[in-house]
Amino acid sequence: MEYLNYYSPEEWDALLRFSENQETPFLVVFTEKVRQKFENFRTSFPSSKIYYAVKANPGTPLLELLRDLGSNFDVASIHELDQLLELGVSPDRMSFGNTIKKVRHIREAYEKGVRLFVTDSEADVRHLAEAAPGSRVFFRLLMDAVTSDSDWPLSRKFGCQPRSLTDLVALAAELDLDPYGISFHVGSQQRDIQAWDAAIAKVSSLLTLLAEAGIPLRAINIGGGFPANYLIKNNNLAVYAEEINTYLQNYFGEEMPAIYLEPGRGLVGESGVLVSEVVLIARKAKTDRKRWVYTDTGVFNGLMETLGESIKYPIYTHCAGETGTVILAGPTCDSIDIMYEEYPYQLPISLAIGDRLYWLATGAYTASYSAIEFNGFPPLKTFYL
Ligand SMILES: Cc1ncc(COP(=O)(O)O)c(C=O)c1O
Repeated sequence: MEYLNYYSPEEWDALLRFSENQETPFLVVFTEKVRQKFENFRTSFPSSKIYYAVKANPGTPLLELLRDLGSNFDVASIHELDQLLELGVSPDRMSFGNTIKKVRHIREAYEKGVRLFVTDSEADVRHLAEAAPGSRVFFRLLMDAVTSDSDWPLSRKFGCQPRSLTDLVALAAELDLDPYGISFHVGSQQRDIQAWDAAIAKVSSLLTLLAEAGIPLRAINIGGGFPANYLIKNNNLAVYAEEINTYLQNYFGEEMPAIYLEPGRGLVGESGVLVSEVVLIARKAKTDRKRWVYTDTGVFNGLMETLGESIKYPIYTHCAGETGTVILAGPTCDSIDIMYEEYPYQLPISLAIGDRLYWLATGAYTASYSAIEFNGFPPLKTFYL
């Protein structure tokens, strides 16, 4: 079966041996895959600073691995920051990347040593000036046009329009912050490489404008958005990097600002396999062609990104033979707990209650989205091999 080649025979072997006596559902993360991806990012963007977006998978073994490999970290909350401090990561390797933060959390982060923040609103700039004086600040540019093409857009909610951004930079300078750079995010699982071109072009004009106004910025944060291979395969990272490095070279040449990257999904997505069990198989009418396959994992315990069928995970099963279309749904009493109804997933007719399904490339935004006990189902267990 083609999905088998997502992982090496040794990895499958290790997964199956480990899983045998584990009660489903659970996520297995191959840490070696994350190490390889990190090295890929490092060699593809040799002069950039990598800030792993902790939200993608905050598992302690992953953070320890990335700490030891020399990664920096993008944190979304004071809780992620504390987790990293406990693991001995020094605060000068962290960026507080969430634009939505309480002033007391800004103060706490500053007191704990963080000096790099991201903002997109006047109130937040004033909070930063008050609670994190003199800190370096990235200003996040709104990217609604390009993010809408990504599979998991981060549009509208984050960033501000160019005119507002230049006003914020001027305000930050006036308030004795250190206006450091412009950040953007082209949308998560962004498969269109040209999205970065459009974004870098906008940033380049803004940097020129600001330099002419006497506020030269020194950095660009090109965010995350690097895609993982799901049902639809993408170009590999080297291809994305080559294009993006060319765009940067074209726009900045010798005047290259410091480049920051915040990969989440692209770094850890392919490292995970979510193992689930078929709870029930049913047809709503005798003549229905589609089977409903209910599994013990769903939207609320790991598969949140299947909402709107945005992320389509490859699913592997040991069963073989003729296949038929299925609707895949989770175990809770909530009707939005349906993963795939429109997209015609095919699974073998021989699939039976109790069989296991292996959801591939589930290393990002699965365990971290599964923090509640909705309907009494516990959060997703994660194991690191
Ligand atoms: C500020 C910020 N940086 C980086 C990321 C990581 O993005 P991705 O997982 O698409 O690489 C996110 C994702 O939400 C984000 O909000």
